[in-house]
Amino acid sequence: LHVIHIAAEMAPVAKVGGLGDVLTGLSKALQKRGHLVEIILPKYDCIQYERIHDFRALDMVVESYFDGRLFKNKVWVGTVEGLPVYFIEPHHPANFFWRGQLYGEHDDFKRFPFSSRAALELLLQAGKKPDIIHCHDWQTAFVAPLYWDLYAPKGLNSARICFTCHNFEYQGTAPASELASCGLDVHHLNRPDRMQDNSAHDRVNPLKLLRLFYSMLVQLFSNIVTTVSPTYAQEVRTAQGGQGLHATLNLHSKKFVGVLNGIDTDAWNPALDSYLKVQYSANDLQGKLENKAALRKHLGLSSADVKRPLVGCITRLVPQKGVHLIRHAIYRTVELGGQFILLGSSPVPHIQSEFEGIANHFRSHEHARLVLKYDESLSHTIYAASDMFIIPSIFEPCGLTQMIAMRYGSIPIARKTGGLNDSVFDIDDDTIPVQFRNGFTFLTPDEQGLNSALERALYHYKNNGEGWQQLVQKDMNIDFSWDESSSQYEELYEKSVARARTGSR
Ligand code: ADP
Ligand code: GLC
Repeated sequence: LHVIHIAAEMAPVAKVGGLGDVLTGLSKALQKRGHLVEIILPKYDCIQYERIHDFRALDMVVESYFDGRLFKNKVWVGTVEGLPVYFIEPHHPANFFWRGQLYGEHDDFKRFPFSSRAALELLLQAGKKPDIIHCHDWQTAFVAPLYWDLYAPKGLNSARICFTCHNFEYQGTAPASELASCGLDVHHLNRPDRMQDNSAHDRVNPLKLLRLFYSMLVQLFSNIVTTVSPTYAQEVRTAQGGQGLHATLNLHSKKFVGVLNGIDTDAWNPALDSYLKVQYSANDLQGKLENKAALRKHLGLSSADVKRPLVGCITRLVPQKGVHLIRHAIYRTVELGGQFILLGSSPVPHIQSEFEGIANHFRSHEHARLVLKYDESLSHTIYAASDMFIIPSIFEPCGLTQMIAMRYGSIPIARKTGGLNDSVFDIDDDTIPVQFRNGFTFLTPDEQGLNSALERALYHYKNNGEGWQQLVQKDMNIDFSWDESSSQYEELYEKSVARARTGSR
């Protein structure tokens, strides 16, 4: 199959969180399965250009309509992790992708519809006829309606549309007029029952826009809709977890599937990881201890007791991640004789400043350190050095950090929600077959809940050395690769393409 991903992130060149990891991991796995996979991204100024191979401008100008005018886009191409990637550089006076960051701009709702439209223009002008156009998150949600309304009639009509929602919390609301700016005809859509966001009167919700087109045009806009774990797919079908979309998702449950993400096991491999002081494997854990010692030294934590447990946490500091529980875990771990390292940053000013306060409090503490920034290299060393890894999310569509942690032999302490519920199984849970038990879980999103798992983890670590080592080895050997999940996507794609051939939707 020829698969084109259109997205806003791709690791390692343009990554904010897990979306970037998924783009690269899933694409590599599909490529390995023999498919032709290409990716289209905006050309941000803050891309890590040094990690793109054979990067060059194409001799091609893609014109796209926006705000009633035609704009020219320059197209660049290069190879990232062995994958062909097209980068769209708009010639727009607002310098759409020249802002030093990927998201969080006042005009995100212009920048991303603009790049969605330009991506389709690129496909049309380059004569590409993909079997699947796979879009990710609200930034590319416009591709589907634009495709059926404007581009399928122009001859770009071979594709099936797959839309993956990585997090239903981010639906990107904007005034209705903004949608019209990329050429969508919003008049026939702008009915309260269809696309207005209940929580923000007069604003339009692009995910509902997608929903609208399913129900109106009988699955014409997205042929496949996925989210990133089976448990989250269930949660968003409930009024409590659906962020206003549960009814829609229930209505279209036939084509709505939860596929658990994998991780890129080449990028995350302790045996080959060049960020680490010492590489190691499940059969030789001495290297893990050396990484622990090196990181403690690097961050100025006490290394007097080799056996003092080290708890890690690497996260965006947003309410979804259970920031109050993370804060509690730092203090409680230290109280119980452990050490804690947090690597994270927050787009929410009051959370960032709260954690700056905590970081200050522990600035020269011998058992806890907070590093409040994005740091790829440090993240690898924390996965390797830590004995345990905490993910107390309030909700978690999938979560990759628990899988990466296990691959590095750091035992997860996680709340049972979304993808955490599909990948972390409590070692004391008798309902789970012993061979699948791999960590510590809790259910209630409060301090008691967290304590129950954290305290058990620390207890096991201190009192059952041999059992702990076996658990570390077992977790490191779990297959979290994309092999299984990419085959599920492949099946979804193939079934959809086959349905198209027989003329059904
Ligand atoms: P989300 O996408 O919701 O942020 P995931 O668990 O899916 O959560 O993915 C997070 C990814 O981002 C992981 O690869 C993690 O290592 C990385 N990450 C998060 N915060 C940081 C940070 N401050 N520095 C480096 N990497 C980070
Ligand atoms: C989102 C979710 C996270 C998921 C990631 C990749 O950022 O918050 O749970 O792992 O997307 O799908």
